[in-house]
Amino acid sequence: MLKVIFFFSSVHAISEKNTKNKRKRTTGKEIEDSSERKKKKKKQYRPNYFISLPITNPEITSSIQAVQDAIIQKDQRLSKAMVRSGSLHVTMLVMHLSNEEEISIAVGALADSKDFVEDLLKGKKVDLSFQGIDHFRNEVGFVKLPENDHTTKLTEIAETMKKIFQEKGILTGEGRAFKPHLTFMKLSKSTELRKQVVL
Ligand code: C5P
Repeated sequence: MLKVIFFFSSVHAISEKNTKNKRKRTTGKEIEDSSERKKKKKKQYRPNYFISLPITNPEITSSIQAVQDAIIQKDQRLSKAMVRSGSLHVTMLVMHLSNEEEISIAVGALADSKDFVEDLLKGKKVDLSFQGIDHFRNEVGFVKLPENDHTTKLTEIAETMKKIFQEKGILTGEGRAFKPHLTFMKLSKSTELRKQVVL
């Protein structure tokens, strides 16, 4: 089992998602709309910013690299789907920010989250372990985090942050519950792959 210890200070600054690949996340807001407008809205509200915990512990990154290498050995085409070692992360929150004003509101919400998260942590550390692999829709390969007190705390933190962002009017989430995971490959990194390969 691999471990990483989480402090609030290790939360990534709000990062912009690579919006180059088209079929991405949805926020759930688009469910209200229909037909053409729905399509338009879906695009409009697709999450484009996220908050995550960078995973940089070499013991973890090198083990993930070993899994990636073993997969690539089986099918060379999948090399394009691999998440680079420097980009490994556990996503805490995704959101849609449309303009500079929303970006600065989100930055404020992140700063506000600090005290709430510190209250939840009560001076304790969140010690994340990684074990076993799974997938989302045969398109995203990820390492699982075992369910324990630490992941329960992490979920509480993610939910609290989501609430803080939502209270400030930020469109967050993908309409599904927080499921901590560490993505190591995703077919969306290559349109060609998505058409050709089934995991
Ligand atoms: O958050 P992360 O970068 O690990 O997400 C990788 C992909 O997994 C994204 O395309 C996201 O939409 C997808 N995902 C999913 N179901 C979840 C969480 C993430 O399909 N519960």
